[in-house]
Amino acid sequence: MLKSRMEKFYHASVKLLFVGFVVGLVSFSLTSTANAGGKSKSTAKTGDMVLADSCTQCHSAGRVTAKKGLTVAAWNKIIVRMQSVGANISIEDKKTLANYLAATYK
Ligand code: HEC
Repeated sequence: MLKSRMEKFYHASVKLLFVGFVVGLVSFSLTSTANAGGKSKSTAKTGDMVLADSCTQCHSAGRVTAKKGLTVAAWNKIIVRMQSVGANISIEDKKTLANYLAATYK
């Protein structure tokens, strides 16, 4: 009698452990996919996002977009000059921005 009670208790705890494990697994995979989504979003910025993030600390974006008709190479030169005075921009964002500015402000 006592033994079967112990067994029931044992089975109930195993079930609880299992449920806890599954819930933990599901919430872990949910949060990790949510993080992966956020990450890929932040690494693939659009040109106007880069402009707002990296080019508006010292002057307005209007200062940048007032320049018209520059080639991608000419924009790259300007961005390099801005880096030399302290602009913080990744290599990937630099490409995105130079292409965006050359294509948008003709
Ligand atoms: C650390 C401060 C700083 C940041 C960040 C910055 N700039 Fe500038 N920017 C300046 C200063 C100072 C000038 C004026 C002196 C000059 O033209 O070199 C300027 C001027 C400019 C001009 C006008 C240049 C001209 O020839 O008329 C452009 C275009 C420009 N910045 C683009 C950018 C872009 C694109 C970014 C983002 C990658 C950026 N700036 C980020 C400091 C900054």
